[in-house]
Amino acid sequence: MKQHEIRCQYYSQEDLLGAGCLDIRLAISAVEMAMRAFEAGEVIFPEKVVQIFNEETQERINCLPATFRKLRVCGVKWVSVFPPNPVKFGMQNLSAVIILSEIDHGLPIAFMEGTLCSNLRVGAVGALAARHLANPQSRSIGFIGAGEQAKMHLLAMKSVLPSLVECRVAAKEQAEEETFCREMGQLLPNVAIQGTGGNLQAAIEGADVIVTATSAQAPLLKAAWVKPGSFYSHVGGYEDEYAVAQQADKIVCDDWETVKHRTQTLSRMHQAGELPDHQIHGNLQDIVLGHLPGRQSPEERIYFNAVGLAYLDVAISHAMYLRTRDSGLGQDLKIQQEMIFEHAHLKNWIRI
Ligand SMILES: NC(=O)c1ccc[n+]([C@@H]2O[C@H](COP(=O)([O-])OP(=O)(O)OC[C@H]3O[C@@H](n4cnc5c(N)ncnc54)[C@H](O)[C@@H]3O)[C@@H](O)[C@H]2O)c1
Repeated sequence: MKQHEIRCQYYSQEDLLGAGCLDIRLAISAVEMAMRAFEAGEVIFPEKVVQIFNEETQERINCLPATFRKLRVCGVKWVSVFPPNPVKFGMQNLSAVIILSEIDHGLPIAFMEGTLCSNLRVGAVGALAARHLANPQSRSIGFIGAGEQAKMHLLAMKSVLPSLVECRVAAKEQAEEETFCREMGQLLPNVAIQGTGGNLQAAIEGADVIVTATSAQAPLLKAAWVKPGSFYSHVGGYEDEYAVAQQADKIVCDDWETVKHRTQTLSRMHQAGELPDHQIHGNLQDIVLGHLPGRQSPEERIYFNAVGLAYLDVAISHAMYLRTRDSGLGQDLKIQQEMIFEHAHLKNWIRI
């Protein structure tokens, strides 16, 4: 190897899957590690850079960096969100790639497919919240939305709440519900999964765990359907009526200061003066690290909203990188063989 050679590993989604990275426990332990590191002041977490191409549809590409000083790793997620994709083109809404660099010399160590990590992070954070905030004997889960986030959420919830045996799902198109039932039924044969033909109430009423993961901007989830003792994971934007949060006994966020400035239901309520700071129980990190109580009674209705903290993506992708590297999957990418002016044939290549 030449002294100035730079190489990094490339991992496709299939490499990551083949190495066993669709692992909810791996993701949850990376999230817990990241929360401890964040509390210890070991995380650099700059603002994300947002580029919106269509205000109406919110088609956008975001750039989200973060660094773990002690782990000696810096990463960035480059993620595109194109909400019309599924209906208009039959393509996924969200897609991402991730770059990881070491911070001893600042060189890249991995370039990888990032949708798996990103969706796994959403599911793992919802599941970690459920571990602390849902009734541990929860048997039923109801979904509004049957897309990629909903599917990952079901896997993640089943991992932390193995007592879940019944799942109902409502989406805009019946075909989506059918795909959800078929794909998830193969993965979770001990859960009875049923579509409701777009009947949102039928999907939610009586559910111990409720998930909304839609691309809608409408109050789809009604407070009257949310039973005492339930845990609600809100994944999308504005998708529940204000009364859902108003009747909750606890509201928990991944980071309330971040949520406040977004366009989620809770953000809208806060901006309208209808949800003051003191009505928020706290951030998930404080519950996970034992500074705040989680669920305190089987009757509490608990509302959880995560908008997504990119340092968690970097933590999970680093755990995926280590696992995939050790499996021998992936490709070696040559970034440079030597420094620019060291190339013996540079004279033949330059244009001046
Ligand atoms: N909180 C986070 O960290 C995070 C991360 C990624 C994505 N998201 C958000 O999660 C949401 C879902 O993302 P996805 O990738 O699963 O999208 P997707 O396009 O795959 O799925 C969206 C689902 O919403 C359903 N839907 C839309 N309007 C509806 C309506 N009126 N009634 C019933 N169902 C309706 C669709 O039928 C579809 O099943 C998006 O809003 C996305 O921005 C949140």
